[in-house]
Amino acid sequence: RLQSPFGSIRASSSTAIAEPEGIKINSVPTKPIEGQKTGTSGLRKKVKVFMQDNYLANWIQALFNSLPPEDYKNGLLVLGGDGRYFNREAAQVIIKIAAGNGVGKILVGKEGILSTPAVSAVIRKRKANGGFIMSASHNPGGPEYDWGIKFNYSSGQPAPESITDKIYGNTLSISEIKMADIPDVDLSSLGETKYGNFIVEVIDPVSDYMELMEDVFDFELIKSLLSRSDFRFTFDAMHAVTGAYAKPIFVDKLGATPDSIKNGVPLEDFGHGHPDPNLTYAKELVDVMYAENGPDFGAASDGDGDRNMILGRHFFVTPSDSVAIIAASAQLAIPYFKSGPKGLARSMPTSGALDRVAEKLVLPFFEVPTGWKFFGNLMDDGKLSICGEESFGTGSDHVREKDGIWAVLAWLSIIAYRNRNKKPGEKLVSVADVVKEHWATYGRNFFSRYDYEECESEGANKMIDYLREVISKSKPGEKYGSYALQLGDDFSYTDPVDGSVASKQGIRFVFTDGSRIIFRLSGTGSSGATVRMYIEQLETDVSKHDTDAQTALKPLIDLALSISKLKDFTGRERPTVIT
Ligand code: G6P
Ligand code: ZN
Repeated sequence: RLQSPFGSIRASSSTAIAEPEGIKINSVPTKPIEGQKTGTSGLRKKVKVFMQDNYLANWIQALFNSLPPEDYKNGLLVLGGDGRYFNREAAQVIIKIAAGNGVGKILVGKEGILSTPAVSAVIRKRKANGGFIMSASHNPGGPEYDWGIKFNYSSGQPAPESITDKIYGNTLSISEIKMADIPDVDLSSLGETKYGNFIVEVIDPVSDYMELMEDVFDFELIKSLLSRSDFRFTFDAMHAVTGAYAKPIFVDKLGATPDSIKNGVPLEDFGHGHPDPNLTYAKELVDVMYAENGPDFGAASDGDGDRNMILGRHFFVTPSDSVAIIAASAQLAIPYFKSGPKGLARSMPTSGALDRVAEKLVLPFFEVPTGWKFFGNLMDDGKLSICGEESFGTGSDHVREKDGIWAVLAWLSIIAYRNRNKKPGEKLVSVADVVKEHWATYGRNFFSRYDYEECESEGANKMIDYLREVISKSKPGEKYGSYALQLGDDFSYTDPVDGSVASKQGIRFVFTDGSRIIFRLSGTGSSGATVRMYIEQLETDVSKHDTDAQTALKPLIDLALSISKLKDFTGRERPTVIT
């Protein structure tokens, strides 16, 4: 039987260290635990790992040990998560350690629920010092699966590496956990409870976020589309956190029919699903959208509500195209951008579709490493409004996280805007029409990503080492089949705002025609190594735009497999997921 970590903490001998204003704070002795280094987005491990004695508590205490006291003493923090297994127990541990370290007040989503973008929105709106997100994003949940924790700072953005490195350092020397001796907090009803000077307020997970969405978008415009009888919408919450948001926003506010929400109840194990909105894991939605007479618009979001997938009838919008199309239409269709976006950005492996929009609109443009945290400084500095990643992340500076529901509302705004004058019976401009028009104007950046999940780490690392060697010897102009190399490197990024440098962010082969082959290891897996191979090629000839991406990219894919010797290094014949 799995044990609650709180039980084991109470069982160990502890001494009261202070009794300020009526709460007793215990000093719980502890020892460092190996392996608490955070990846692309926080600390992610199997639930069983987090359930080991003091595992979570050590990390949370190490975090407080890493923050300047003025960032939390008597301060305001936010806590929420995606509803996955272990969140309830974890929330109680986090609340007690926050109280033990002198936090003044913590806002907790009802039942521990808050999507990742909603945490960011609440931090910003309530001027909190920061917040915890209990989620392993799109990784499956349940006793056998994953759990995770992430800390966001006062402008709502994920803590920078300077902080997460410090936390890791402190996990290696930790000796004491400061735990308030307060009862478990009832998270099922809204309102404040006081424990001495420490306050816990249970908040509605939806209201602050919904208010922000109403500021950003023209809800009347979207409503005019969703209430048409000739437009059918479907949203798949994948039994994850956006289940809590979909009905209040799409149905109650915007007039979608109740049956347009699928898998709308958040479950601790996501209904045994893998809550990742892509063509493989959101198969149920894909089948509906590709069925005869399917809906006109389909979308899904992931475990914690920050990713999105957009589909039209019989049509998939790649995330790289999605951000480019949103950026191109934002000024007309979305009130928040009525003066035009300030700048655009994408992660390095994301296709160059957005670059072409930035060029045409003459906007500042940035290419950052994989990971949403790299957009934050640019936004805070007023350089960036709209950004996206190939990994099904799209968003803007309304919060400091990518935002699944925002992306769906952005697309609905675009479709609604395009059809605002259409009379009943007139043919509507479809998702596919919008994308094809975009390709005709800007060219089509064919894009595909191959994932090789849970490979042996040794082989995967060797392959990356080998590729580093290949690029170190490569020279511009060198021929790779029919492609000539323009540049080969291991991507490195210098943040234009604070000058920090992130190196070794992915091996790039960029060819003279703009085609790219990219390799990197995933930073979000919880076991083994996931190899990602990204392939891209620009096609300006409209007559070729309807070609299937796999067909169009076949020569480059073959080239990538041969340059990397991927099969030899990983033993994998084919990828686990293709997007
Ligand atoms: C998370 C981050 C994204 C990032 C993605 C990459 O979802 O929030 O910003 O793009 O991870 O994951 P990977 O597994 O490729 O490191
Ligand atoms: Zn996520």
